[in-house]
Amino acid sequence: MIVTIDGPAGAGKSSAAHRLADRLGYRFLDTGAMYRAITYAGLQHGIDLTDEKALLQVALASEIQLAGDKIVLDEVDITNAIRTFEITTLTRHAADNRAVREHLTQLQRQFAAESKQTGQGIVTEGRDQATVVFPDAECKIYLTASEQARAQRRYEDLLNRGEQVDYTGVLEKQRHRDQQDLNRKVGGLALTNESIEVSTDDMTPDQVVDALEKIVRDRQ
Ligand code: C5P
Repeated sequence: MIVTIDGPAGAGKSSAAHRLADRLGYRFLDTGAMYRAITYAGLQHGIDLTDEKALLQVALASEIQLAGDKIVLDEVDITNAIRTFEITTLTRHAADNRAVREHLTQLQRQFAAESKQTGQGIVTEGRDQATVVFPDAECKIYLTASEQARAQRRYEDLLNRGEQVDYTGVLEKQRHRDQQDLNRKVGGLALTNESIEVSTDDMTPDQVVDALEKIVRDRQ
């Protein structure tokens, strides 16, 4: 089974999707991490991220490995390095680049095909998983939360990483990113008719995973 979990930034998709995959014995795919990894690679190569052709070349030349909860780029572990405020802000260039999106879409479908061959389902998390990448997915979930709850989560996360940020700045950047995600012409964030919406505002992380597991098990 392919389980897609789409939704806005900061709704807690990554950790919920990861834990859900563990419970189901499925493989987990963090597609936001792939866009972040391409951004990181672009900075490493010193290219102008707004140069669409140059960024595509970097994407095509990069090897992204998703090993459990680790993200490895050309054999270097970049799991933490891609979670900074800087990478978060700059990733819009990779996300807005249609050729990069097409390339990552292929890699995501390849991940699903390989998993199918070994008899494993996947839980995939992002913005366009139900709409563009896996329109035929058996289970589509839209995970969301109020903008205050999402900004608070992101703010605490950045503080824990030792970054100097203020809540208002995080909230403003998030509003900006929400607009970018919703208005992106290809791969923009959208709720499909088949998606089940889960709002995590009044739920603990455990309750979120329980709710998601129930949704999937009801469809198995
Ligand atoms: O989910 P995460 O915050 O890690 O995503 C990083 C960026 O990549 C987001 O700003 C989002 O716009 C973009 N993204 C995307 N399509 C996806 C996953 C993420 O455009 N499937």
